[in-house]
Amino acid sequence: MTEIVHVPLGERAYDVKIGTGLIARAGAEIAPLLGRERVAVVTEENVARLHLETLRAGLAAAGIEMEALVLPAGESTKGWAEFSRTVEWLLERKVERNDMVVAFGGGVIGDLVGFAAAILRRGVRFVQIPTTLLAQVDSSVGGKTGINSPHGKNLIGAFHQPSLVLADIGVLSTLAPRDFLAGYGEVVKYGGLGSLDFFEWLEANGPALAAGDEGLRAEAVRRSVQMKADIVAADETEQGVRALLNLGHTFGHALEAATGFSQRLLHGEGVAIGCALAFETSARLGLMSQESPSRLRAHLAAMGMKKDLADIPGELPGAEGLMALMAQDKKVQAGRLRFILARGIGEAFLADDVDLDVVRGVLEEALAAR
Ligand SMILES: NC(=O)c1ccc[n+]([C@@H]2O[C@H](COP(=O)([O-])OP(=O)(O)OC[C@H]3O[C@@H](n4cnc5c(N)ncnc54)[C@H](O)[C@@H]3O)[C@@H](O)[C@H]2O)c1
Ligand SMILES: [Zn+2]
Repeated sequence: MTEIVHVPLGERAYDVKIGTGLIARAGAEIAPLLGRERVAVVTEENVARLHLETLRAGLAAAGIEMEALVLPAGESTKGWAEFSRTVEWLLERKVERNDMVVAFGGGVIGDLVGFAAAILRRGVRFVQIPTTLLAQVDSSVGGKTGINSPHGKNLIGAFHQPSLVLADIGVLSTLAPRDFLAGYGEVVKYGGLGSLDFFEWLEANGPALAAGDEGLRAEAVRRSVQMKADIVAADETEQGVRALLNLGHTFGHALEAATGFSQRLLHGEGVAIGCALAFETSARLGLMSQESPSRLRAHLAAMGMKKDLADIPGELPGAEGLMALMAQDKKVQAGRLRFILARGIGEAFLADDVDLDVVRGVLEEALAAR
């Protein structure tokens, strides 16, 4: 069964389709959007090896021809070099304003290809076919596209909404367990920021979902995407409520920076630990009872995920060093650290004026436990 979440953004509205077998049916799904029966697909080597033939056949079944550019896998692809290569390749293929570009991969491919589509001929349409859990629940929806700079992550980019998102639950079965669980960190984030009910559902169903149950996986993706769609529809360009999607990210980005954006800590792992630290800070500020951070950590532990600074291998800077990295994060406004805090699981809010001594205290304690 295919579930549809509609993202209501006026003339930029689109559907996110969630189900199994969507890649094999991609031709039928995409055909109504095409001016001519040809698409340019950009992907990366891991996804190409595992799933590109399925996509090719799925498109061919509807008479759609594809040409594919296969980039290297990994975060370092998301920079100027592969970006300009992609844009030039699309121009060589004579992709025009009415054509459709397909981003086929995880968040790295989705962000890079979406940004290429945003600037190519001042904007061409694109379809997201996200292949990681993180990309299905988060990066493929909402229109944030971009690449990294030596100055920092995601510093170059544009808002450019896709025309369609096809989240095929079946492709998640080839993900490495660690990559799957990192994506699950963003799923837990949705429960933490906006829905105790969803969090309780995850407590009950998370282990079976991680073990491979596709019905539960589809339900988790649908509920996450619905929450993201609601927030993006209310605040497309992050003037306010969209910032709630950054729960756990101020801490998380600092930890990613401290570990050199390496395999020591994946983005979603940093987000999960960051959510626990944001909840801990909220409890310390008297906003919620200590039960909430403990309960969040207990769920992460039950899932076999990293939940604490103690779970990060290798050296970490001290509390001051981590605070400095947080201040470098782009969510700094006029010298103040913006935090997403919460009054309970599912009740996040944007706090502009957080007592930094409390944050330092939380970090010192977490570091001492290592
Ligand atoms: N635009 C947004 O709103 C947004 C939100 C969150 C994250 N992001 C970005 O997303 C990126 C991270 O995305 P990601 O976690 O998907 O990383 P990724 O794209 O690097 O994929 C992770 C790994 O999984 C592999 N892979 C992908 N699909 C697979 C499949 N079906 N089977 C087996 N292996 C597969 C990839 O080759 C890679 O090794 C970061 O650059 C982050 O900044 C963007
Ligand atoms: Zn994230």
